[in-house]
Amino acid sequence: MKESQKIMLQHSEVKIRLLRLYLERYLNILTKSKYCGEIHLYDLFCGEGIYNGTGKGSPIIILETIKNIFYSNKTSGNEIEKFNCLFNDIDENKIKKLQLEITERKLHYSEMGNLKFSQKDYCNILPEVAQEINTLKNQKAFIFIDPYGYKNIKISDIKILLKSNKSEVLLFLPTQFMFRFETKGTPESLIEFIDELIPIEKWPKSDTGIEFIENLTEAFRNKLGPSYYVDSFIISRDLNQFFCLFFFTSHIYGFDKMLEAKWNIDEEEGRGWTNKSENDLFSQVDRKANTDKFEQKLKNFLKVERTNGELYEFRVQNGHLAKHANDILTKFQNMGILISVNADGTPARKSAFYLCYNNYKTEPNKIKLKLK
Ligand SMILES: C[S@@+](CC[C@H](N)C(=O)[O-])C[C@H]1O[C@@H](n2cnc3c(N)ncnc32)[C@H](O)[C@@H]1O
Repeated sequence: MKESQKIMLQHSEVKIRLLRLYLERYLNILTKSKYCGEIHLYDLFCGEGIYNGTGKGSPIIILETIKNIFYSNKTSGNEIEKFNCLFNDIDENKIKKLQLEITERKLHYSEMGNLKFSQKDYCNILPEVAQEINTLKNQKAFIFIDPYGYKNIKISDIKILLKSNKSEVLLFLPTQFMFRFETKGTPESLIEFIDELIPIEKWPKSDTGIEFIENLTEAFRNKLGPSYYVDSFIISRDLNQFFCLFFFTSHIYGFDKMLEAKWNIDEEEGRGWTNKSENDLFSQVDRKANTDKFEQKLKNFLKVERTNGELYEFRVQNGHLAKHANDILTKFQNMGILISVNADGTPARKSAFYLCYNNYKTEPNKIKLKLK
């Protein structure tokens, strides 16, 4: 196998790992929530299911995940929600192969929900999917967009998919190629892509590929506005080989779950994956999350009194987990510099900060915190 093919394979594996981790977390919670009905999953560039004989592609991962969740809920007597899947790929042969794989692997039973296939061009199926999502009541949707390039991808389309506030979108972009062309003779398609986000003359020049991704994430955020969360997960082999998954949602909870998936893969930065981080000599050593910058930000934030609900939003917006914030706050407490009180002003319980989504939803004003 050529080196370039190996690299693509490795990237695909990481991409798929993040997809699985996210879906496991998010779908598990959704199915346990009494407010959520059926869940709709759309894989709009689904491919043939199995690549190079053994590698599992996105539709296989999606079906394996929902099958596990569905039957584990059924076995434990929990209320079971159905999962409706739509797998689309413009290549008819790939869809046929995928159907065969699903049957052979026994990945779907009708009681799990609907299973649909289509062979449409992304540009044509997109308005249909958006329309379907907009009519959903009390239901949730997840859309995976995994093209080869970026020609057809428009942020305005992503916004339409998110508009109903019932969906999350995971988008894979070949940022490596985009960055390379940004620096060397920008093609028309990239100019169009960027120009939709920000007038091309205002596009900041990026010195590294990572900077390009940061600029792109920021541009997505600015374009979508404050009601949406945008995050990225970088998959890199070295400085010149990187791709990126972008995650879009209007729901802080979906965002929080994506953070858990990211930190599960990148225990030090929660930012991305490099093959170096898995192969280095110290890979047996426990990795520790790098929270120094977050600690500094938290110090500034707590100069003013904050509720646990405000602190929850702050930690999620800064890309950190509850355990990171808990560790830092416990440290402040042990140093004697943190004041923590209940809503009635009495001292709050030690080492309890209520920074999970459940606390945010049910008791966002349980305690107040401030640095002395
Ligand atoms: C990167 S691959 C998808 C891989 C897949 N998600 C996986 O994990 O295995 C991109 C797929 O998009 C399909 N495709 C290309 N152009 C398309 C279009 N305009 N609309 C829909 N599908 C398209 C290709 O046939 C190809 O299978």
